[in-house]
Amino acid sequence: MPEKTFYITTPIYYVNDVPHVGNASTTVASDVLARLKRLQGMDVLYATGTDENAIKVHEIAQAQGMSTQDYVDGIVPRWMEVWKAMHISYDTFIRTTEERHKKVVEYAFRKLMEKGDIYKDVYKGWYCVSDETFFRESEVVDGLCPNPECRKEVRWVEEENYFFRLSAYGDRLLEYFEANPDVLGPDFRRNEVLSFIKAGLKDACVTRQAYGWGIPVPDDPDKVIYVWFDALLNYLTVAGWLQDDEKFAKTWPADVQLMGKDIFVRFHSTLWPAMLMGLGLAVPKKLFGHGFWTIEGEKISKSKGNAISPIKLAEDIAARSGADVDIAMDALRYFMMREATFGLDADFSIGALIGRFNADLANDLGNLLNRTLMLLHKYRGGIVPAPGAKDREGRVLTGLIESEADDVIAHIDNLQFSEALGAIWAVISRGNKYMEVEAPWKLAKDEECAARLDTVLYTVLDTVRSVAIMVQPFMPCVAQAIWDQLGIDEPLSEQTWDDARIVGKLKPGTKTAEPKPIFPRIDTRSQESGAGSQKGQAEKASHPSHESHMSHGPKEEKVEEQVQPQAEEKQYLTFDEFKKMDLRVAKVIAAEKVEGADKLLKLQVDLGAEQRQVVAGMALWYSPEDMIGREVVMIANLKPAKIRGVESQGMLLAADIDGEAVLLKPDKEVPPGSTVR
Ligand code: MSP
Repeated sequence: MPEKTFYITTPIYYVNDVPHVGNASTTVASDVLARLKRLQGMDVLYATGTDENAIKVHEIAQAQGMSTQDYVDGIVPRWMEVWKAMHISYDTFIRTTEERHKKVVEYAFRKLMEKGDIYKDVYKGWYCVSDETFFRESEVVDGLCPNPECRKEVRWVEEENYFFRLSAYGDRLLEYFEANPDVLGPDFRRNEVLSFIKAGLKDACVTRQAYGWGIPVPDDPDKVIYVWFDALLNYLTVAGWLQDDEKFAKTWPADVQLMGKDIFVRFHSTLWPAMLMGLGLAVPKKLFGHGFWTIEGEKISKSKGNAISPIKLAEDIAARSGADVDIAMDALRYFMMREATFGLDADFSIGALIGRFNADLANDLGNLLNRTLMLLHKYRGGIVPAPGAKDREGRVLTGLIESEADDVIAHIDNLQFSEALGAIWAVISRGNKYMEVEAPWKLAKDEECAARLDTVLYTVLDTVRSVAIMVQPFMPCVAQAIWDQLGIDEPLSEQTWDDARIVGKLKPGTKTAEPKPIFPRIDTRSQESGAGSQKGQAEKASHPSHESHMSHGPKEEKVEEQVQPQAEEKQYLTFDEFKKMDLRVAKVIAAEKVEGADKLLKLQVDLGAEQRQVVAGMALWYSPEDMIGREVVMIANLKPAKIRGVESQGMLLAADIDGEAVLLKPDKEVPPGSTVR
């Protein structure tokens, strides 16, 4: 039995426009998955492409006074350019206007006709061109498309058409999804699908009267095949169906098909598996409907002018930071995968992107590499030393690499990209902590500590080597830049996931390159560049973090009142007012992340005479384990507040270093509950 090809698909995109950050996220997520599977040594087929036979594509070409063929031929390279700039490593790009695809569609149509699954009837009903979807009378509200994201006017269509007997598949679909509960994800969308099917499936109209574009119905050229029937079949065309039996046997069924929530229930989880059942083919192993991106809380739309191009964004980040544009693009990929819980909606803002750039990339990852390399150059001439025996902290760090590497795989297999990055960042944080604890700059002052200094520098650089491989699926250019600075001879492209998991593979004697920050920090206070609106957003970037340090939680929790006034309108506290503040030292005894809020930590703190619960916006900089046992300074008499439904009875104090929160702590250990004066 030949090895199964791990087959991943994105939806194929309508070419009535070019990609924006929203629809680029499916492609980035699929790319991360494809790159990870390749690192695991699997044979991968990652496909994306364009859905060209749609009425709206035809209409836009007409509006531009072009032939539809010329229009699509002109715009498809622009999609490819964006994917190239976004470091998308697809193996196949399918266009539904290709001959190989037309043959597949014609064959499938004929086969389903022969089986009696497609029949002719008169269609009377509503059609939304924007969504390319037929709707029942009962679904249309005030003549408008019922999709809340669309709400455009629907058209009445009354024509002889062909229908796919979808109604006959309801029970089979339900049985299948009940017997194979892992196929549909996430779980809450699976339930939506089951309810949709249980409500009763209607036969689907799969043709339209010919309007000068589309794949003609076999033996009935007055009609064209409905764009969804045509588009879904692209997944079979790519897998080699009817063209290459050997390839198809290895590739089908698809392992993971990703798409947005808008096209999950009706098309990918109902029509598509029913078509496959009708054709006698296996249902994909995983169909996953992710959430939508909004921009600053608003739906992405051309008319609102917020359909930001990923390329423009990366250029903007590059200009603000001075980073290479490929690095900035990787930062955008990182942000998209880190910020959203894949499956749920997420909000995009320049401020949040800059926040992550500075905190996660410049501070955490950048620092781990940069300051270690600087010390290596200072104390060891830039040559990787041979390590000695590791102490406890070093063993904890290397032990963590193996377990987190396994967690990364588990998370990505569950399509939990943000959690996978969380696991990698646990290694990075531990590496930075190891540096703090070992303080190589102090070891360097003592000749007797020379061997220990070697061990520390080696261990951290070997950790960076593992991290470079682990981040490669998310940020391929960043991984390469780290690799180049480490000066490792073996190409990064030949590394496997095991090379990341196994510690100690960095060869002593390796000559590293001159350290150069890969992510120059973005100064959020002196941002002059960027579009007007974006400048405002960048300025905001420094505030949410400032606010969250000085509050129980992040901005949404109405903490603006607590932000300090501007210098020119400085107000003074009287001593009596100051005395009202009950500042105390507290010791963190338990810490966990607040579910669904990746900036928040829920802490239990010991205040000597009592125990309190505090919600702090610290999770970007401190892991729960970093917090446990730590002494912090808190305002103990702040009015309790609920943050994301979790009670918070106090607020921690932290320095705000360009958006990064650095917690205050007493100079030496003091009894919990001690007063701060
Ligand atoms: N052509 C169909 C798909 C056919 S697949 C056989 C289509 N194309 S689309 O261009 O409109 O959408 C492509 C993908 O982009 C969909 O998965 C859709 O959910 C996704 N997104 C569009 N806007 C989005 C956001 N704002 N956020 C996240 N994904 C979004 O539908």
